[in-house]
Amino acid sequence: MLAGKHILLIIGGGIAAYKALELIRRLQDQGASVAPVLTRAGEEFVTPLSVSALAGAPVHRDLFDLTSEAEMGHIQLSRSADLVVVAPATADLMAKMAQGLANDLASTLLLATDTPVLLAPAMNVRMWEHPATQRNIQVLKGDGIRFAGPNEGGMACGEFGPGRMAEPDEIVAAIAAQFRSGPLIGKRIVVTSGPTHEPIDPVRYIANRSSGAQGTAVARALSALGAEVVFITGPATVWPPDGVEVVPVESARDMQAAVEAALPADAAVFAAAVADWRVASASDRKLKKSKDGLPTLEFAENPDILKTVSHMESGRPGLVVGFAAETNDVLENATAKRLRKGCDWIVANDVSPATGIMGGSENAVTLISEDGAEDWPRMGKDEVARRLAERIATALAD
Ligand code: CTP
Repeated sequence: MLAGKHILLIIGGGIAAYKALELIRRLQDQGASVAPVLTRAGEEFVTPLSVSALAGAPVHRDLFDLTSEAEMGHIQLSRSADLVVVAPATADLMAKMAQGLANDLASTLLLATDTPVLLAPAMNVRMWEHPATQRNIQVLKGDGIRFAGPNEGGMACGEFGPGRMAEPDEIVAAIAAQFRSGPLIGKRIVVTSGPTHEPIDPVRYIANRSSGAQGTAVARALSALGAEVVFITGPATVWPPDGVEVVPVESARDMQAAVEAALPADAAVFAAAVADWRVASASDRKLKKSKDGLPTLEFAENPDILKTVSHMESGRPGLVVGFAAETNDVLENATAKRLRKGCDWIVANDVSPATGIMGGSENAVTLISEDGAEDWPRMGKDEVARRLAERIATALAD
């Protein structure tokens, strides 16, 4: 995802600096190389040795370091990267940037650089909410500086609120977004995927055979065309794609809440195999064997997420795509399903066991829209996803 990209990583002085070590690893996993810069305050939290050992490169620390200046001057260092990332970006560093101060190596690099800069702020909630910090953020945004996070949550200081540094994976996704290109750039697309698990009791659940392979491939293909993808996945057996925002869920109701939270979006693709029913009153204790006979499970209907979103009066995504898993009369059932659900397109597939599609690597689909039905030949799920992503890009461009 970040093959060949060169990141200048400035590690500021905050307790979240330890996450910068993990960030270095994640960036390298994606094929990026990292040139680390450690501020004086950063050195109080992580050692230069661990930073340079992980980065596999010398760590830059001083503005007036003759050896570093002889090897690579700070101006050259500031221009050598494809992206400058500051993680953690402290309130102090952000204030310096907003003022254009350059009194140490990090602030000088940030003033001298001509490459894009991404900040991952981390600070106490009061510091984050202080008008001075908020003013600096507006100035920095106006200067074209991008942000990843901060998140809301518990802090090392014991307080709760916004100010926690984004997780390394989220920062990597934000970095990847800087390098995106393609026809779906600037488009936000929600994708559901995988099965749902409907609890019977704390240890048992009802599920289905979906692996999540098709939804994962769709998310990857959309992201490859430049889309910002929110990937809402039940407990799948395949790994989620890189470079997308992953929202893990368990049940249909969790999935619905996650979809609602992810909207608005330009398009939504519902590839999840959502359980139609849940156990009406799941037990909060493990069901035990009893002399009184076998347990009886009563079912309740789950929300139909696709139908709900398709019928939204305001905020409906411009393009809503459903999947139809059928075992018989595929075309007839899927055509009726498109109308019943109110979505724009249905990708219909035959999931009868003989096809080997459910849980397999191939798919044979029919794309149904108001213009009619179009049979696609049997092909890999990745290829189905690529074609579908291209069709979505064309539809959103119209
Ligand atoms: N879907 C959904 N929420 C549900 C059930 C299904 O969002 N509670 C979505 C699926 O993600 C898929 C489409 O609706 O995009 C069709 O799913 P499918 O399982 O084929 O259809 P059902 O609605 O379950 O209808 P039936 O069981 O009658 O085939």
